[in-house]
Amino acid sequence: MKKPKTFEKLWRKRFENFAENAEDDAGIAGWSPTGLDARLRKFKEIWHNETHTFEKKLWLDAGCGAGTYSRFITQHQISVIGLDYSLPSLQKAKSKVTEESILWCVADINKMPFKSDYFDGAICFGVTQALNESMHAVNELSRMTRPGGHLCIDALNSRCLPHLWEQFSRRILNKPMHLRYETTSNLRDLMQQNGFINIQLHWLPILPTRWYRYQWIVELRLTRWLFHNIPLLGSLFSHAFIMTGQMHNA
Ligand SMILES: C[S@@+](CC[C@H](N)C(=O)[O-])C[C@H]1O[C@@H](n2cnc3c(N)ncnc32)[C@H](O)[C@@H]1O
Repeated sequence: MKKPKTFEKLWRKRFENFAENAEDDAGIAGWSPTGLDARLRKFKEIWHNETHTFEKKLWLDAGCGAGTYSRFITQHQISVIGLDYSLPSLQKAKSKVTEESILWCVADINKMPFKSDYFDGAICFGVTQALNESMHAVNELSRMTRPGGHLCIDALNSRCLPHLWEQFSRRILNKPMHLRYETTSNLRDLMQQNGFINIQLHWLPILPTRWYRYQWIVELRLTRWLFHNIPLLGSLFSHAFIMTGQMHNA
């Protein structure tokens, strides 16, 4: 009998298909264009707010997809290694750049071929939802982040209302989850256990494409202040979140 494919294997195949069939960054990565747009804007905001603390030599873009973030980071005179387990994604990413400051590596985030304390920083966006669990990836990302280095990782928020409903209805209908949702507490605990300090939570509310013209409302300074200061709001209404942290100095 044919062995059932695991969640991670199914996602790997899907990502390879996305990359084979698309030319635009969002399509290659499997995002909606609006989803990529909102995430990238948030990442740029974090980068510009915290860049003075970021060491700027070598960063890892783990699960780089079309290399959108790799290209952004190299604009700041930083070398980047874009890593992905999907060869078609890396081929498309490579075809979009001429910079030699980006190297591409085919590997699984759960077991990366780099020595410890290798990177000054790592970004990992869009990956945790396609993993069975976040622990191995966070362990690996932590091992390779040098003391004082930074990690910026995102996840789909398991406590937001649409995701709570989806988890409930799939359980009732006995259907497996399509994506894996994560809790802020689990990701924070994993980062803490692996030696990260100064951990910050950034809510990432993203409206569905059909309502995206109202996205500016959830990005208002006031809305962000409310989400930050009333965590239940962020928790219930934020599609995703980003967590940043700094590896403690030994
Ligand atoms: C949703 S896309 C995000 C791409 C890019 N980070 C972005 O945000 O635009 C997720 C990417 O992570 C890669 N990926 C998922 N699981 C992975 C794993 N276990 N190891 C390496 N790459 C992985 C996929 O192939 C895909 O290119």
